[in-house]
Amino acid sequence: MTRIDDILSTADKGLERSLDRLFDLVRIPSISTDPAYKADCRRAAERVAADLEALGFSASLRDTPGHPMVVAHFEPKDKAGKVPHFLFYGHYDVQPPDPLDKWTTPPFEPEKRTGKDGVVRLYGRGTADDKGQFLTFIEAMRAWIAETGTLPVKATILIEGEEESGSPSLVPFLKENRAELSCDAAFVCDTNMWDEKTPAITTRLRGMVKDEITITGPRVDLHSGAYGGPAANPIRILSKLLSKLHDKNGKVTIPGFYDGVSDLPKDVKAQWGKLKFSDKKFLKEVGLSVPAGEKGKSVLEQVWARPTAEVNGIWGGYTGAGTKTVIPSQAHAKLTFRLVGKQNPQKIQKAFRAFAKAQVPKDCRIEFSSSGPGSPASEIAETSPLIRKSAAALKDEFGRNTALIGSGGSIPIVRYFKDVLGMDSVLIGFGLNDDALHSPNEKYNLSSFHRGIRSWVRVLGALGR
Ligand code: BES
Ligand code: MN
Repeated sequence: MTRIDDILSTADKGLERSLDRLFDLVRIPSISTDPAYKADCRRAAERVAADLEALGFSASLRDTPGHPMVVAHFEPKDKAGKVPHFLFYGHYDVQPPDPLDKWTTPPFEPEKRTGKDGVVRLYGRGTADDKGQFLTFIEAMRAWIAETGTLPVKATILIEGEEESGSPSLVPFLKENRAELSCDAAFVCDTNMWDEKTPAITTRLRGMVKDEITITGPRVDLHSGAYGGPAANPIRILSKLLSKLHDKNGKVTIPGFYDGVSDLPKDVKAQWGKLKFSDKKFLKEVGLSVPAGEKGKSVLEQVWARPTAEVNGIWGGYTGAGTKTVIPSQAHAKLTFRLVGKQNPQKIQKAFRAFAKAQVPKDCRIEFSSSGPGSPASEIAETSPLIRKSAAALKDEFGRNTALIGSGGSIPIVRYFKDVLGMDSVLIGFGLNDDALHSPNEKYNLSSFHRGIRSWVRVLGALGR
């Protein structure tokens, strides 16, 4: 047996214990966006740090104005200076689990269930995004250390706690710890495979910027009979404003919105055309059938290469039982914009605010609030030798060529690794489209977890050579 095979079999034998560690972590509701869970975020960070320390890393919690970062270093035995140094990134924070009544089992009581299709799935908030994912490289390192006493590379691990809330503390943290965190490259485990049989490396991520608006009309809530007609209704003003964000072809109407967005190059279009993908099936899986995006663009192009303006939440007025005849004083909405190419988050926010202000009558008020600076999109050169090496290691595990794909989601740190630390990233993940990220019944397939660990065992081996 080769050494890699020994390490793989150590990982296989440890799978049940690896699962226990994942479930222990999923039990901690580390919801970064909600201040009520601040202590839980810290608890999750402490658990990760303690686990890495036990593995032989020197690990610490670093306080930030928000949630703490976990930073850990491993010096390979007898090899310091002779092997490359890589950073491995994941995030321990999760999205809010609501709506709770849509979960089959409670979000923070992880459960392993076998479906009618025979597939074993791990349910719970954070199983796929991102606790199960980042544990794949930690468990792979555990197997390496158990079998060889060391790692084949020098490793720094950074596990963040604010990814799901836009990473507000990240840039200052990277700047303050530039020397400590600058490595030869970063490996990020927070993306998907192409499908359950085909591994993937993601080379494009969209950026994101958010905003929240409050429109105030009358000083107080009013009787909708006594005032209905003459009094401006903020909910109507808000809905009109939101309905003007897109034209009939699905394009965003904010002036300047598409500055920095270029058409998809022909060769990229051709490459994506070769991936077997059904637009119909993509919609059908989520209960839809009528494409709603930009006219004339395929699903892959819309999700991987086009920007969006979305409304994520809207509230105001009376929403309790029965009827209340009222004209509300205020109406609110939360929006996010996904960015591509060279779109500038600050400029997009400014343009949106000017657009929104222009829709509000002069005796009403619009206020904006948003935390965090937003993040631009990332595009990674597909020719990098690290991508080639990693793709080959993934192919060894799956027996299939590694697909180079885009992702519609955002991982702000990728761009900041490049801009602040000058460091390239390789995005390897084992999630699947139906993992229900940010949705009820989030899950991670047991095979994603298991083959993810095995894949990292191989990637580490390839990197050390
Ligand atoms: N893991 C996701 C990004 C992702 C989504 C990758 C789907 C591949 C497929 C990541 O944790 C995430 O959700 N990020 C947030 C970041 C945002 C709050 C700045 C996102 O994209 O909404
Ligand atoms: Mn996420």
